[in-house]
Amino acid sequence: MELIVTESYDELSRRAAELFAGLVLELPEAAVVAATGNTPMGMYKELARLAERGELDCSRLRVFQLDAYLGVPPSDSRSLEGWTLRSFVLPLGARRDRFVPLRGDAPDPERECREYESAVRKAGGFDVAILGLGPNGHLGFNEPPSDPGARTRLVEIAEESLESNARYWGGRDRVPRWALTAGMDLLLSARRILLLVSGETKREVLRRTVEGPACPDVPSSYLATLPQATILADRAARG
Ligand code: PGA
Repeated sequence: MELIVTESYDELSRRAAELFAGLVLELPEAAVVAATGNTPMGMYKELARLAERGELDCSRLRVFQLDAYLGVPPSDSRSLEGWTLRSFVLPLGARRDRFVPLRGDAPDPERECREYESAVRKAGGFDVAILGLGPNGHLGFNEPPSDPGARTRLVEIAEESLESNARYWGGRDRVPRWALTAGMDLLLSARRILLLVSGETKREVLRRTVEGPACPDVPSSYLATLPQATILADRAARG
């Protein structure tokens, strides 16, 4: 694992965008799984700027949704599918018909997970995973405990994640209690992993991520064992 500490959130966003743009240049057809959440939004805005100026061509990327609230349709403004499209796919000029959703409102969630896994397999696995860090060390909705082999599945959202997502739903009790998530197995086997971490509230979980030990109680801690993982943290998060 490589750890890059930046002085500010803006610098974090720029550095992450530069790294990602370099990867797209090397592999224009990369299979990319892209997180929602607040942390990567600065990076995505930078990427949108590069795309707008013609300095980044994302038209051949295959973008995969990372996670989804159970039962929430894409038309709901809080759906993570809609958020991925609005913040990443469309502003970067990636193609909508090459986007692979993970449908939270699929009639058979188990089947949806198997179909998503086979789409990822068909793409040859993820080339790049862009991830945020949950307050409890979750990656996507791989809540603790999640072992490195955990598959794409239906999960119960942890208490801390309900709290941190309450801001999007107008209160903790309104947040859906279940989610689908890309599995740890797929995320940890991505050929490049960028984990973005910002703010003082993430300081302790980042410390446990970086310093270990790697354990299911802090799913992100497995990243520290991987040479292909780059953690970008701002000074507020790393101290
Ligand atoms: P955040 O979310 O980027 O909004 O902090 C990260 C996460 O919960 O995975």
